[in-house]
Amino acid sequence: MRGLAGKGVVVTGAARGIGFEVARRFLAEGSQLFLCDRDGEKLAEAAAQLSSDGEVGSAVCDVGQEDQVESMAAAAKDFLGRVDVLVNNAGVAAIAPVLSETAPEWDEILRVNLRGCFLVARAVGASMAQSGGGAIVNMSSTNGLVAEVGYAAYNASKAGLLLFSQTMAVELAPLGVRVNCVCPGYIVTPMSEQLDDPAFVRAYVRENIPLGRTGTPGDVASAVAFLASEESAFITGTSLVVDGGQLSHSGAHWSPGRAPEVAGS
Ligand SMILES: NC(=O)c1ccc[n+]([C@@H]2O[C@H](COP(=O)([O-])OP(=O)(O)OC[C@H]3O[C@@H](n4cnc5c(N)ncnc54)[C@H](O)[C@@H]3O)[C@@H](O)[C@H]2O)c1
Repeated sequence: MRGLAGKGVVVTGAARGIGFEVARRFLAEGSQLFLCDRDGEKLAEAAAQLSSDGEVGSAVCDVGQEDQVESMAAAAKDFLGRVDVLVNNAGVAAIAPVLSETAPEWDEILRVNLRGCFLVARAVGASMAQSGGGAIVNMSSTNGLVAEVGYAAYNASKAGLLLFSQTMAVELAPLGVRVNCVCPGYIVTPMSEQLDDPAFVRAYVRENIPLGRTGTPGDVASAVAFLASEESAFITGTSLVVDGGQLSHSGAHWSPGRAPEVAGS
């Protein structure tokens, strides 16, 4: 994609799932990579796997910890020379109906998904602003746009991220930094495999996803690469939904007999 070759890219939560695939995509585009994750063992495996195609930097970092984020951002700048792209992907999810949600679990989800994105975007955004610009892509979710029962803390964190991103986009536009979100729908990753069994996923796809399949980390990586590239040079403060038509289906009048049946049913 235009404008990614040679660019310095930081990806958080890159040890597995969507983050790992995003990192692989940027490497394929010829970018220089710096990875971060709080799981040191898996991060080392991921960096070693990706390093076969070129040198990859990495730092173990909990994105919710301010001191660790500041050190990680400094290490990324040292390694890359300058940071052109940040993919704020690290996130956590847990299922809990509101009335049985615990305060510590609520705090942890907001700490990682919202405070973490803020801390990393502030640290890396400052260095982008100093060096004349860049692109930040924050990983929100369709859960930030429409409520999913059982996910109040997660939904709130991802909705908060959308407005945080819009605000940052307006503030940093004069400094040449674009800020956008990707909102994935159901993507099969270690996170989703921990939350749902295969029978649930089959029923979920049948009832909810017009394109008739779950998404892949590669589907999300393509959207991230677009928003980080020069192809999206006039796009800032928006969000790109990657959900196989799920939100259009849920939000539309789906009239049986007047439209094809939901794919897969
Ligand atoms: N899988 C989906 O269906 C889906 C849908 C919409 C949005 N998302 C979002 O995409 C992102 C990636 O999700 P995934 O499915 O690949 O998850 P995953 O659990 O498979 O991978 C997440 C990675 O983030 C890391 N991480 C977690 N907390 C961290 C922290 N505090 N500091 C640093 N690293 C941390 C984990 O160690 C892991 O390597 C998340 O923000 C998630 O909310 C996922």
